[in-house]
Amino acid sequence: MMRSTPAFMLAALLLGCGGSGAYKEPTGTIPFDPNRPTLGSPGTVQPYTGSNKFVLEAQTSMPTGLELQRKVILRTCGPTNGVCHNQKEYPDMHTTGTFASVINAPCNLQPGTYSSVFDRCERLGDRFKIEDSAFKENEIGWYEVIVGAYVEYKDDETPPSDAAGVHLHLRDPVPPELLKYHWGAGTFLRNFINAQGNVESLSFAKFNTRWWVLDDGRHLYGEVHDYQAGDVEALQSAGIIQGDQNRNGTFGARQGKSVPLINPGNPEESYLVARLRGHMQADPIPGTRMPLANQPPSVTDMLALMCFIQGLDPNATQWNLSSPIDYANCPYTANPEALSLVGAGVHWSDRVWPILQSSCGGCHGGSTPQAGLDMLSPGAWTRLQNFASENPNLKLIDPGRPEKSYLWLKLAGDGSISGSRMPLDPLNSGSRTLPQDQLDSIQTWILAGALND
Ligand code: HEC
Repeated sequence: MMRSTPAFMLAALLLGCGGSGAYKEPTGTIPFDPNRPTLGSPGTVQPYTGSNKFVLEAQTSMPTGLELQRKVILRTCGPTNGVCHNQKEYPDMHTTGTFASVINAPCNLQPGTYSSVFDRCERLGDRFKIEDSAFKENEIGWYEVIVGAYVEYKDDETPPSDAAGVHLHLRDPVPPELLKYHWGAGTFLRNFINAQGNVESLSFAKFNTRWWVLDDGRHLYGEVHDYQAGDVEALQSAGIIQGDQNRNGTFGARQGKSVPLINPGNPEESYLVARLRGHMQADPIPGTRMPLANQPPSVTDMLALMCFIQGLDPNATQWNLSSPIDYANCPYTANPEALSLVGAGVHWSDRVWPILQSSCGGCHGGSTPQAGLDMLSPGAWTRLQNFASENPNLKLIDPGRPEKSYLWLKLAGDGSISGSRMPLDPLNSGSRTLPQDQLDSIQTWILAGALND
């Protein structure tokens, strides 16, 4: 694995939050020393005057981002988890100043393994070209250095895909008419914002060797002679940005979907929130859900976090954590319970739907499903968003609210239902109840927003 801290520092330069803006050639290992952002003046908001107990509690205990950082972020960030690290690692949220600096900062820069990188955390990769050759600039998807002794390959040989040396995996295949190898200075390019604020493409690293085109033309292999070990180390410490960091073929940033850790004004597309929930919209987040060991955020904690992010001005460049959180205008106050993280590990596709198919599909499936409700065939999730035929005031599933979800009431045998408790059990001419663990899963899935995930 390559080191990523220098990449962050460069990213910080690009974002304008880590330096003066003038580009300096990175050398060696750059220590993590986040800039403390200068703060704008705190704003004022009208207080929430409703009666929801979660909102009132959040407003009292977490009136501003400062308390949020101290009471939620700091507690949630343990030494063992991967969302918030200590000051040596990225991202650093252990002080209010550094917490503010993760607003709009790229996510997932220091992953444990490449496969745990979320596509939407990927950024535009650096580009590569070979000077003095017909080789066009090409985005780097991912790269790897395979350590081993130098082997000399003859002109008519083809090095193996795992030959010792530098391997670059490119976004676009090299045109087939190009030679199978090229001698030359492999040049790594990145866009920088110069002191005048203009975008400039600069070469930030070079590696001179023989480059072979392997496999499908997207794979370049650079030979490394034993005396070049130092050059390779320098290359690695330059922190090459990989456009397909998780190596799954999707270039997240290319698809215009890159998300920051905290996305001002947009909590639903903030990686920090997604990491706590285990998903962003319907996309599962790879890796373990956070926090691992510490007490997970409560509904009140989540409400403060969501309303804090919601209230950040997306067009600002600095944010003052001592500004009051605007609970009065925060849409999440309409239904704070839906923010509960309790059921966030229960998914429709691998848990809830299989229960419904096997326990209910026998009657609620086929050409004439009972009560007109088909839970067996594809599209079941969509059909569950409808109103119940037995009670047109209630939806079958009301995300976040089992007590308003008719399907749940039928399972629980609630006194308000028409007909029988479900599932019917014709063999015993009555009803039975689902096993408790299945009921718990369905209930927590509804509480967590009944996602189609
Ligand atoms: C043996 C057949 C049978 C099984 C198994 C069965 N149901 Fe039913 N279900 C019915 C019948 C018949 C009705 C209509 C009469 C009633 O509600 O008692 C019905 C009605 C319903 C309704 C009302 C639909 C509406 O739109 O108002 C829901 C919800 C429901 N069932 C859920 C379930 C669930 C969830 C399961 C599985 C855990 C299940 N059922 C298993 C036979 C069955």
